[in-house]
Amino acid sequence: MNIPELIRKKREGEALSEEELRFLIGGFLSGAVEPYQMSAFLMAVYFRGLEPAEAATLTKIMMTSGRCYDLSSIPGIKVDKHSTGGVGDKVSLVLAPLVAAAGAVDPMVSGRALGHTGGTLDKLDAIPGYRWDLTEEQFIRQLEKVGCAIIGQTDDFVPADKRLYAMRDVTATVESIQLICASILSKKAASGANALVMDVKCGSGAFMASEQDARALAKQLIAIGTELGMSVSALLTQMNQPLGVTVGNTLEVLEVLDILEGGGPSDTRDITVELGAEMLVHARLADSVAHARKRLEGLLDDGSAMAKFQEWIAAQGGNPRIVENRALLELAPDRDLLRASRAGTILSMNTRQIGVAANVLGAGRVVQSDVLDHAVGLEVHRRVGDEVAAGEVLVTIHHRGGRGLEAARRLLENAIVLGEGRVAPLPLILERLDKNTR
Ligand code: URA
Repeated sequence: MNIPELIRKKREGEALSEEELRFLIGGFLSGAVEPYQMSAFLMAVYFRGLEPAEAATLTKIMMTSGRCYDLSSIPGIKVDKHSTGGVGDKVSLVLAPLVAAAGAVDPMVSGRALGHTGGTLDKLDAIPGYRWDLTEEQFIRQLEKVGCAIIGQTDDFVPADKRLYAMRDVTATVESIQLICASILSKKAASGANALVMDVKCGSGAFMASEQDARALAKQLIAIGTELGMSVSALLTQMNQPLGVTVGNTLEVLEVLDILEGGGPSDTRDITVELGAEMLVHARLADSVAHARKRLEGLLDDGSAMAKFQEWIAAQGGNPRIVENRALLELAPDRDLLRASRAGTILSMNTRQIGVAANVLGAGRVVQSDVLDHAVGLEVHRRVGDEVAAGEVLVTIHHRGGRGLEAARRLLENAIVLGEGRVAPLPLILERLDKNTR
């Protein structure tokens, strides 16, 4: 097979056969397909898309590009959650121990930051000692004992996604419905999950800006996930402002601790509870979302979720004393304040630009080899619809010695739009979808 011909075929909008897709993906992993050829192919997919059957085939090829975990020795339904990516989305770090405290088994395989969005593994790296590289045996043992584990992709677990994810991150090819589906579902199916709740984000900080595209992504995730044998539902949630207050790895872990102590920003808590309630219903641990919600709120308020969090962190080598001694989490030494230039209402936030601002401080990657600074980031104190006074602090910028500070300030000044008038607070959850949704 001729690689440039396959790229051309996709560029012209034709569907590739299973054999052709296998040739390209296998070749990329073996080195026969050069990175520049794969990046051209990804850009062709970005513009031309994949047909539904082609996307399902790509997902299966990626899923079986390495080992798949067999969790059949663990009784019950193994249920997981995955987000399509957002700014300030630290939900997984609360959710995994929360549903485990309710008796669920959550085998979570997470990724690194992608584009302007944060990555769960990068947030976990901010916890001293945390190890995400468990062997399959360790993963299974921990799920049996603790009920949750969050691991990353090792070289032999869905290596196709590991390589493609990193390449999409730096070639502006993330925002493709089919590539997102293949990336997420290949990992979820290979992790041994039987059920999956998708948090499909839409808005200025999501990969799908419009509700229509986000809905199309949710439907395709449900269709392909179902074809792979999982029970899948999705919540469409808004990402027109960061989730919670913090953006940046250590800062987000601190917000996680607040939520697990029964406090924290209400949007982070509410979305976590809502996704968790869906998970408990999938796992048949609750007969309705309303019952499940109540149960999870109780577990957050009575400290059970926090106890499970400490158990989980310790099981993966992390220091559980970060809960009692937050100084164990390193924050950047320097602070700067972004103040409102005038009195008015916050009309909108360009959330992508807020994510990019955190990245230029060092919280995310601009090129594949960038090393993150977990200690930097943002606290966004105000929400869309809030009225603010002139000079009021809108954002606290945590930086290290001014690195990226000027660029971050410029991005933030443009991202937060102040003006006259009233704006209704943004709804958090827009819709629930499952395989029966038309
Ligand atoms: N999360 C993933 O795992 N992959 C994507 O492509 C987007 C979000």
